[in-house]
Amino acid sequence: MSWIRESSLSWLQSFCIKVIKCGPMPKHIAFIMDGNRRFAQKNHIKKIDGHTKGFDKLAETLQWCLDLGVPEVTVYAFSIENFKRSAEEVDALMQLAREKFQRLLSEKDKLMEHGVCIRVIGNLSLLPPDVHKLIADAVIMTRDNSKAFLNVAFSYTARDEITAAVRTVASGVGSKALSLDDVDEALISGCLYTGCSPDPDLLIRTSGEVRFSDFLLWQICCSCIYFTDVLWPDFSFWHMLAAVLYYQRCHAQLSGLVGAGRPCSPRAVLFREHVRGERVSALEEVSRASL
Ligand code: FPP
Ligand code: MG
Repeated sequence: MSWIRESSLSWLQSFCIKVIKCGPMPKHIAFIMDGNRRFAQKNHIKKIDGHTKGFDKLAETLQWCLDLGVPEVTVYAFSIENFKRSAEEVDALMQLAREKFQRLLSEKDKLMEHGVCIRVIGNLSLLPPDVHKLIADAVIMTRDNSKAFLNVAFSYTARDEITAAVRTVASGVGSKALSLDDVDEALISGCLYTGCSPDPDLLIRTSGEVRFSDFLLWQICCSCIYFTDVLWPDFSFWHMLAAVLYYQRCHAQLSGLVGAGRPCSPRAVLFREHVRGERVSALEEVSRASL
């Protein structure tokens, strides 16, 4: 299935979207897409077919987000912890990623037409080189798009992300590009893999598990958290609306929590720009490399 689908809302769904849009809407939704294997077991299909159904649901959900006017989505597609699963399952998930990123590259025209920017957050050096290159190609191809943002967490954990950010900042202090006084929350936020994104307004986790599984631990401090029992491949338009309605009920309380924060020092701003530039150069290098 394609990453970008045509909108296919019923009259009732379109009407409900119009109504819900009268309230405050999240600008950034994060998803922990959990329950693919239980779905596979329940439906007597292979585990990897459960993950494929999970991808199809992701594509459908992205279209609902566009229909709802939500410009940014972050999804947990593969945790560093997932490398501990059986070699058969890890290989199958890598093969699924290969197919889906190849498909994404072949859909360049549609992505450009919709202005979709794809970012992949995580420790890409842990991935097979060909998957790393496909990801680098997709990120470079869409980097100037700015109507909608899809952040795919692939080979990601929050603790790995925070460790990488601390290393980056420490190297800046070590090279005297930064002083200790420049180190604050805004600088660390800017050095995370998600440094270009606002924090999620709403985090949705499916499958009934009530935990964060090392996902966006820094970024969700003020997010509305919605847990639902439905298995990810069974997630429907109506589950999505229920989550947004929950967000609208929490909104008044949560909006008071997000402070303006202290502005970064000019040196810290320069450093963040330098870090972003280096990350793009590293991806360009991987994208240019022949395998
Ligand atoms: C969690 O369910 C899901 C995953 C580990 C993989 C999620 C991947 C996708 C939805 C496909 C996305 C692919 C790309 C290329 C973006 P689980 O395996 O933990 O299932 P369980 O909780 O029932 O055991
Ligand atoms: Mg799970």
